[in-house]
Amino acid sequence: MSNINFDEFKNKVSRIINIDLSSYKEKRVERRSKNLMRKYNIDNYSDYVSKIRNDMQFRQEFIEHMMINTSEFFRNPENYEFLQNKILPELFDKHNKVKIWSAASSNGCEAYTVAIILNELNIKANRYQLKATDIDPGILKEAREGKYKKNALKNVDDRLINKYFNKQGKFYHLDSKIKRQVDFNRINLLEDSYDSNINLILCRNVFIYFTKPVKDRLTNKLSNALTEDGILFLGNTEYLLQPRKFNLEKIHTSFYRKT
Ligand SMILES: C[S@@+](CC[C@H](N)C(=O)[O-])C[C@H]1O[C@@H](n2cnc3c(N)ncnc32)[C@H](O)[C@@H]1O
Repeated sequence: MSNINFDEFKNKVSRIINIDLSSYKEKRVERRSKNLMRKYNIDNYSDYVSKIRNDMQFRQEFIEHMMINTSEFFRNPENYEFLQNKILPELFDKHNKVKIWSAASSNGCEAYTVAIILNELNIKANRYQLKATDIDPGILKEAREGKYKKNALKNVDDRLINKYFNKQGKFYHLDSKIKRQVDFNRINLLEDSYDSNINLILCRNVFIYFTKPVKDRLTNKLSNALTEDGILFLGNTEYLLQPRKFNLEKIHTSFYRKT
């Protein structure tokens, strides 16, 4: 293969990894691609494409590096307080069964946080369905394992740590009762179709990586997946400029209700 430029690299790699990198903010994709290139002393994009195509372990590392899957339990605790004290009690007052979806779940901290909260609220498991999805199969495998290092638990009370985790060496293993409550699957939010009639969607800290038109398209898809009074819960630094355009209204920092 003769030498290629960054755009060609991006197109070729998108086809190999089956993720359209042009949906993600260009500068970040370029910067992170170059980081990995330097780490492995790869000095041109053609060699880079070949390595991604032929070396499966490297391909997975590339996907993980590009998808940025940092997460933690009770990320932005004040938002989870609002979820626990206001949103979830209201949803369970109104509905017999509540469908909840963690839409870019990463290693599962987010979905498991919701499962812990539901347990703390004494809601019976047959009253909800808790699904979690991510584009990255490697991180979904970790999510299903449910073992975490201490830094993922920095916002979790000691009481909850003692109740729901079992420390083995440097890992904290999540209680299997909580693990069983979450069903993990791969979904590409931009290309795949989703379930509908969902009461609560957590789609947090992923909007920030997408270009503006892609963000709008995604907001529309998520809004369509919600029930009439369903809730969209975004990350702390993500907000919708014109929620009404998507039949949503802001009810609290990071929370939008379908109108
Ligand atoms: C920074 S993490 C956020 C994890 C969690 N929601 C949180 O807020 O802690 C972003 C996640 O989005 C996932 N992601 C990126 N693009 C995606 C897409 N098109 N479809 C589904 N998940 C995607 C990444 O794999 C990554 O795990």
